[in-house]
Amino acid sequence: MAAIAPSKGTEMEQKYLSTRVANLKPSGIRKFFDIVATMHDVISLGIGEPDFDTPGPILQAGVRSLQEGHTHYTSNSGRLELRQAIVDQLNRLYGVVYDPVAETVITVGVSEALYLAMTALLNPGDEVIVPTPCFVAYQAEVVLAGGVVIELPTYAEDGFQLRPQALEAAITSRTKAILLGYPNNPTGAVASREILLEVARIAEAYDLIVISDELYDQLVYGVPHVCFAALPGMRERTILLGGFSKNYAMTGWRIGYAAGPLDLIKGLLRVHQYTIMCAPTTAQDAALEAVLTGRPYVEEMCREYNRRRELIVSGLNELGMATVEPHGAFYAFPSVALTGMDEETFARKLLEEERVAVVPGTAFGPGGEGYVRCSYATAYEKIEEALRRLERFLSRYG
Ligand SMILES: Cc1ncc(COP(=O)(O)O)c(C=O)c1O
Repeated sequence: MAAIAPSKGTEMEQKYLSTRVANLKPSGIRKFFDIVATMHDVISLGIGEPDFDTPGPILQAGVRSLQEGHTHYTSNSGRLELRQAIVDQLNRLYGVVYDPVAETVITVGVSEALYLAMTALLNPGDEVIVPTPCFVAYQAEVVLAGGVVIELPTYAEDGFQLRPQALEAAITSRTKAILLGYPNNPTGAVASREILLEVARIAEAYDLIVISDELYDQLVYGVPHVCFAALPGMRERTILLGGFSKNYAMTGWRIGYAAGPLDLIKGLLRVHQYTIMCAPTTAQDAALEAVLTGRPYVEEMCREYNRRRELIVSGLNELGMATVEPHGAFYAFPSVALTGMDEETFARKLLEEERVAVVPGTAFGPGGEGYVRCSYATAYEKIEEALRRLERFLSRYG
């Protein structure tokens, strides 16, 4: 359990921090990148954010927002125009219908939306099933809200799709929710409709809530993204999380949203209004521009990601690092088995000897053993150079 292994901590930490917080380990990614930041000439395949700048018109909308004096709070739920535009887009793309007034809340990224969902849903000891490898915050968010994480590893041989039978077997009388993250960080897996229909059947049969983090929904390559809430019967038991960070290259703006049935969103909103008040107004105005006019930029970035995806996946496979074809997000998740090293040793040696940064798969939980995450949100030429360096590295260890 990467994020929640007990840590000893200093005397002060032990004395004053809550056990819950003291036991949270810093994210494996951060630790690694603190080291990378001290080195020169590193090609980073470790970054989990777009290398593109926010498209011009979206940026300008933010500037205009400030110039026009939009420097006040918005409603707790966020600007209604933005909620309306998001709801319209969800309807257009996936055919799922939400009331913009009562069934959506604008958040500070999906990060905050996750926090809200967990805090609003979980009583102490409630269990949340989390397919892994997954985004590093999932386990921590569950634990911070007093819940218990039940990790459900997924495997390369299944294309990192979850196994419905294993999901069903993990359910206990304490299971409250399933937390899905597709397109997946770090594997790039896009959940198939067939498997999601099985998850839906299980959620219904055991009366579970599904929290579906669909932050990368528009970054898919050759396969459709299936919106979980749009599956038959699922709207009423799903909290759909989405955002702007990845699709629109807006990580620093910090805007996301949650959409779901009225009574659940009411709960999230209660937490949000006492912790955050409202998401930043400038960023909400920029996000509105993104939903209204950003699609061509998303398509352009997607085309470039796809070019890099093809380069890195074929490059890694040709070097003998078995890589399942990722169909979404901007990550490849190759095996390091041919080196005989574990993923941590591989990542450390590759960084020290060849100045290429990748993230050990175990930072993302069980199922990540023997794999590393390579982000292709970096320039094509840098990926080419990283592959050359990898080839040299593997000529010594492969
Ligand atoms: C799957 C996933 N969910 C959520 C987040 C957090 O995103 P945001 O910037 O919207 O808070 C990330 C960031 O890397 C992510 O990969």
